[in-house]
Amino acid sequence: MLKELKIISKKTNRPIAFFDSGVGGLTVYSKLKQLLPYENYLYFGDTKHMPYGEKTGEELLSYASRILDFFVEKNAKAVVMACNTTSSLIYDQIKDKYDLKIYPIIQSVASVLSKLPIKKIGVFATHATVNSGAYKIELQKSNPSMEVFQIACPEWVRIVEENKANQPQSIIQIKEKLDEMMQYKPEKIVLGCTHYPYLINILSKFEPKEMFIDPALHFAEYIKNDLQKNDLLQADEGFEEFYVSSSPENFKESAKMFYYLDNLPKLILND
Ligand code: DGL
Repeated sequence: MLKELKIISKKTNRPIAFFDSGVGGLTVYSKLKQLLPYENYLYFGDTKHMPYGEKTGEELLSYASRILDFFVEKNAKAVVMACNTTSSLIYDQIKDKYDLKIYPIIQSVASVLSKLPIKKIGVFATHATVNSGAYKIELQKSNPSMEVFQIACPEWVRIVEENKANQPQSIIQIKEKLDEMMQYKPEKIVLGCTHYPYLINILSKFEPKEMFIDPALHFAEYIKNDLQKNDLLQADEGFEEFYVSSSPENFKESAKMFYYLDNLPKLILND
């Protein structure tokens, strides 16, 4: 009996690993940490290659493969693709190459959102995500009559990473995209890039806050339920380690908007 308990605890104590191009994935990370405070966590912000939304599938595949190899070395039990862009462009190519649970944000969240009573939905996302049509495809898989309007907002990622959300020029850029979207009269708008929920206070100056869906909460609940179903839950330490591929100071500073890091993240090359 004791032996069996030890094996289970060893398996579940392995960390849950997150990655994104920068601080954006912290919107998901902070939600999962609230739900599962005693899990062990790794977080990799590939700041050297940010913005992911302007990269090709081939480039993203090579960055993500190295990050996943690193997580395997670190003995992760699951990987959270806290990045819409990689979920839309490379999840299908990478999912069977690793003996790990991999959670892609778009596919996981769309399975929840498509069940809501919404007829017209807007999606703000990166160029790469919009061009892939991933949200539209995934939402219409189980709800073919849902109308999906997608608009790319590539400049929003830098606004967040460089902490410029309150600057007048940024507010003008944000409002322009919102006005464009409102012409379609959506009932809800998905913030389909993990960086965008940082802008919710600016967006809700112009439309009610309830208009905007931050996929992070739906995603965190989905991950928790699935880990539970697969008997992968419950660690008892609660450590966290952060890594970046450039500019640890900037990361720590921008992260403050959503999550406070005690220490600077460690610099790990992803060349
Ligand atoms: N935050 C990521 C996403 O959800 C990528 C943003 C970027 O680096 O362009 O798509």
